Amino acid sequence: MALVQWQESLSVGVGALDQDHRSLFSMLNQLNDALQDGTEGAMMAPLLDRLLLYTREHFAREEALMAECGYPDLAAHRREHQQLAVQVRALHQRLTDGSTESLGREVLVLFKTWLTSHIRVSDFLYKPYLVARTRSHDRGAPEA
Ligand SMILES: [Fe+2]
Repeated sequence: MALVQWQESLSVGVGALDQDHRSLFSMLNQLNDALQDGTEGAMMAPLLDRLLLYTREHFAREEALMAECGYPDLAAHRREHQQLAVQVRALHQRLTDGSTESLGREVLVLFKTWLTSHIRVSDFLYKPYLVARTRSHDRGAPEA
């Protein structure tokens, strides 16, 4: 059974960002399955590479949209992203150092708690701004 399940109540109102969140959840579920099977060792390097790249791309996409619609708390939101990025880089560094004891479990705990609370609290703060932008685009309103 999946550890974390994306559901409509987690939608931030922008399809591309919801899709990113779904992909992140899917990576966590794959890690959870591997931890239960005891096969996580082989997947840790590619998974952490993907998480590093994916969080970077997803955060850039999200921040560009927030900037585009003039979201007033972009700086604070960006700081949260940067804090997670620092933690992911530190976990990734442990792979290089060979210090992989309990690494999979730590990645799982970090992302599970961070992702769901970040979406429900911080991402939801920008939702009305991004939804309004999407609506005005759908109506063919001229670019600001
Ligand atoms: Fe975010």
